[in-house]
Amino acid sequence: MDPQSVSAIALARVPDGVPAPADFALVQLPRSPLTEGQVRLAVRCLSLDPYQRSTLGGRHFGDAPVGPGDVPPGRSVGEVVESRCADVEVGRLVLAETGWRSEAVVPGADVSVVAVPPGVAVSAALGALGMPGLTAYAAHVRQLCPRAGETVVLGAATGGVGAVAGRLALRAGARVVGIVGSDDKAALATGRLGLTAAVRRGPGLDEALAQACPDGVDAYLHLGDQATLDVVMERLALGARVSLCGLMDQYNGGAPTRLRAGAVMTARAQVRGMVVYDHADLAAEHAEHVGALLTSGDLVALEDRYVGLAEAPVAFSRLMSGRNVGKVVVDLG
Ligand SMILES: NC(=O)c1ccc[n+]([C@@H]2O[C@H](COP(=O)([O-])OP(=O)(O)OC[C@H]3O[C@@H](n4cnc5c(N)ncnc54)[C@H](OP(=O)(O)O)[C@@H]3O)[C@@H](O)[C@H]2O)c1
Repeated sequence: MDPQSVSAIALARVPDGVPAPADFALVQLPRSPLTEGQVRLAVRCLSLDPYQRSTLGGRHFGDAPVGPGDVPPGRSVGEVVESRCADVEVGRLVLAETGWRSEAVVPGADVSVVAVPPGVAVSAALGALGMPGLTAYAAHVRQLCPRAGETVVLGAATGGVGAVAGRLALRAGARVVGIVGSDDKAALATGRLGLTAAVRRGPGLDEALAQACPDGVDAYLHLGDQATLDVVMERLALGARVSLCGLMDQYNGGAPTRLRAGAVMTARAQVRGMVVYDHADLAAEHAEHVGALLTSGDLVALEDRYVGLAEAPVAFSRLMSGRNVGKVVVDLG
């Protein structure tokens, strides 16, 4: 490989529906020179997250749309291999927005040193201790607010956000029912993750949820699809709290998600939209709380790990079609 080039994954064509590996291409890009204030990072671990799907051909909050030939955005743990920023030493492991590439040049002011408790894998900084974990923590303390004995229902219960949210709700003394996409995930949810019950999304969800939640649903974290949202909304208990957090089918090009107004009214429910960027003030509290759960082994940090940048398209396709189990990360060595 030319030492003056870096590997990257570029969008080959805008996906139609669930992204396929062939929508991306492994490319070589010229190495960027380093200017004053910048650092060069060798990417060690790249985070793949559903929001990246919204950027492919479209816009996700402040992110620019990603078109054919562009490299999708992505957060990584990287090692500083060259620095022209006095505050960032060579050899440090840092968190940065690198995109899907093996090496990135970024402003030193935009990186933060990776901080995980002893014994915890650095990739946790992209998962339970990173953006997905903060999302779960903020939804838990500010929107779901479960009390002991209440029933909390979570979509995508074995995923990056769902696994953390489930553990937090269990620790609050709630009954926690996970909605998942396969029997294997259901076994994982009630086994290793310790949830009270797990039910499968799709046909039969209504009956299964009625059985698992005989007193209704007091709090619901929505991370999935329209059909699941419709079923849960009709099972809300009086005074339920609903956090609208993830719209997987909509990101894949499905119809805009709709909310059943009658169900909200009947349950006198509070429905809140979750955007993790609004909850940065909880970062220190989240790191302390979730860090302690990871250290004690109380929280299982499930990871769906791939090796090599070339695997990123396959990993992303699996994530967006619900075939991941846990937080998706790509190891670059
Ligand atoms: N609002 C925010 O600030 C914020 C921040 C972070 C993440 N999120 C959202 O939270 C959700 C979970 O994120 P994550 O990173 O933890 O991902 P994840 O849960 O690890 O993976 C996504 C999961 O969504 C489930 N899913 C439900 N309906 C689906 C459908 N129609 N197509 C494909 N998958 C479907 C699948 O699990 P099952 O097969 O088990 O159902 C899949 O494994 C995503 O929607 C994400 O966008 C929102």
